[in-house]
Amino acid sequence: MEKLSTAQIRERYLAFFERYGHTRVPSTSLVVADDPTLLFVNSGMVPFKDVFLGVEKRPYTRAVTAQKCLRVSGKHNDLDEVGPSPRHQTFFEMLGNFSFGDYFKAGAIEMAWQLLTEEFKLPVERLWLTVFEGDDEVPADDEAANLWIAQGVDPARVLRFGRKDNLWVMGDSGPCGPNSEITVYTGDDMSKMRAAGVNSDDPDYVEIWNNVFMQYERATMQKLPAQSVDTGMGLERMAMVMQGVRSNYDTDAFVRIIARIMAELAATSCITGRSLRPIVLWPITAALLRS
Ligand code: GLY
Repeated sequence: MEKLSTAQIRERYLAFFERYGHTRVPSTSLVVADDPTLLFVNSGMVPFKDVFLGVEKRPYTRAVTAQKCLRVSGKHNDLDEVGPSPRHQTFFEMLGNFSFGDYFKAGAIEMAWQLLTEEFKLPVERLWLTVFEGDDEVPADDEAANLWIAQGVDPARVLRFGRKDNLWVMGDSGPCGPNSEITVYTGDDMSKMRAAGVNSDDPDYVEIWNNVFMQYERATMQKLPAQSVDTGMGLERMAMVMQGVRSNYDTDAFVRIIARIMAELAATSCITGRSLRPIVLWPITAALLRS
């Protein structure tokens, strides 16, 4: 696996999907315009919400973005995680490729596998996939499971989970659908890798990417006018995996900021990671909210 910088990962992702006909769309502001259901952009799909719902048309049916996101309220709130968790930031960048009634599960999974294993060269033997197990409202996503297996994934590596992990919703309303997540085992000892680690608290398992198959409107659970794809890869988490470090805050995106806080502002080396993480994030987020 190549040791790519955060900027290189972002550019490789955007360029990869551009080669597959996606329009590169700039990130919007963190503050959501014209949507009373949401205060901040909490994922890459938010600027495209009305396109998924079929009430807005864009001059493209495929898009790729590196979207600024903030998870501090509503369905996606990571506020209490910052500090204790080495992998939650509240403010982060989400890489995403989107299809608006264009390709669906087969196209998304084929491109996802190629990006992970050929472009980023992640070790196949460390990858785990999850799909929705189904319930009385939304059927099991056997199709996604079979599509991963058709890419050459060992069926034992395709796991099934319920709504909490594998049915993605933006909020109480808006587009939603079953999703398929990719987790990387980052432990040193391969003999300890096991299915039970996926979606557990074990820090050796890092969920890096979510592929959502948009099919329903959340409030009504009515079928959307078109089947679409929304994906979200945490840029800083991907950098953590590719740079072989154990925390998002140990990646090149943060180390110089942290070193400067330690040396110049806090004038101490005793401050713990737990206390530093909110200090690091607060000014970045505040500056972005003003922009
Ligand atoms: N919209 C996909 C995600 O946030 O995981």
